[in-house]
Amino acid sequence: TASPRVFSGIQPTSDSFHLGNYLGALRHWVALQQTHDPIYCVVNQHALTVDPSPADLHRRTRASLAQLVALGVDPDRSVLFVQSDVPEHAQLTWVLECLTGFGEASRMTQFKDKSAKGGADRSSVGLFTYPMLMAADILLYQTHVVPVGEDQRQHLELTRDLAARFNAKYGETFVVPEPHIVKETGRIVDLQNPTGKMSKSTATENSLVNVLDTPKQMSKKIKSAMTDSIGVVSFDPDNQPGVANLLTILGSITDRDPESLVADYAGKGYGALKVDTADAVVAVFEPIGNRTRELLDDPAELDKIMDRGAERARVIAADTLAKVYRAIGF
Ligand code: ADP
Ligand code: NA
Repeated sequence: TASPRVFSGIQPTSDSFHLGNYLGALRHWVALQQTHDPIYCVVNQHALTVDPSPADLHRRTRASLAQLVALGVDPDRSVLFVQSDVPEHAQLTWVLECLTGFGEASRMTQFKDKSAKGGADRSSVGLFTYPMLMAADILLYQTHVVPVGEDQRQHLELTRDLAARFNAKYGETFVVPEPHIVKETGRIVDLQNPTGKMSKSTATENSLVNVLDTPKQMSKKIKSAMTDSIGVVSFDPDNQPGVANLLTILGSITDRDPESLVADYAGKGYGALKVDTADAVVAVFEPIGNRTRELLDDPAELDKIMDRGAERARVIAADTLAKVYRAIGF
């Protein structure tokens, strides 16, 4: 097709995606199917850097793929696959590692942050070379655009540098991908600590809504969201971050500007806003949860989707890798 190709990946690092993942990333995956030629990947090789148990990694990989299908990634329209099913990712990574400077890789702030947290000696080399695997993911598919949040900007810059460097050194081989910056309004904050982002790594009880929560759990979490004592609904992320977050969530789901929702709550308390937000989230997530469980209960169907996705991905990835190998003299 003539549509620009988009690549995006998500790590299978939990049993359920959360509301931040959905509104900040996965919802856009679904929308991009209308305008782009999408390649979507469950990046289980990236997830290995956090040393999961084999059972967790296996289960979460399947659960991630099932949730993606359930939330609207159409395996006919998109190439949807699991990273380790396509060995070209690991093969191209080695080539890109040999093209990356040690100092250049050492400047990646995500590695510096993560290795500082875990202790540099206990960090794996895989954590260090993670950006080269990410570059391989993107470049194998001759990707035109990559949706990125702030946290992945530097890695995409490295990907662009590596593509241009390879092309200059060995001849035109890779498309140099452009970032598709996801709007900051997609950032969802923690329900109990509204100054921090909603994240599984900092989650406390009731602070994060999971796609696979029961409707009762979702409602309870949203209704117990931390707000403030001002008592008037207005969109003021600095002074009323909890209320602004509820408006952002409700606005994202109902496709309205959070500011434009404020008038609906004139003279009403936070309770009404919480009820509406909870109802909106449940209306989207309940059917996704049900469909996910159906897919997980039908392993043969899920295998079929995974196998077909891997086959389609490999056709493209093998073609690119063959060009790369020829260009470098393998
Ligand atoms: P977590 O922070 O829970 O570990 P990940 O880092 O695995 O989540 O995020 C996966 C994707 O979801 C990324 O594209 C990221 O930008 C997006 N995302 C994660 N948390 C949020 C959030 N609170 N608001 C918006 N987008 C988010
Ligand atoms: Na994270």
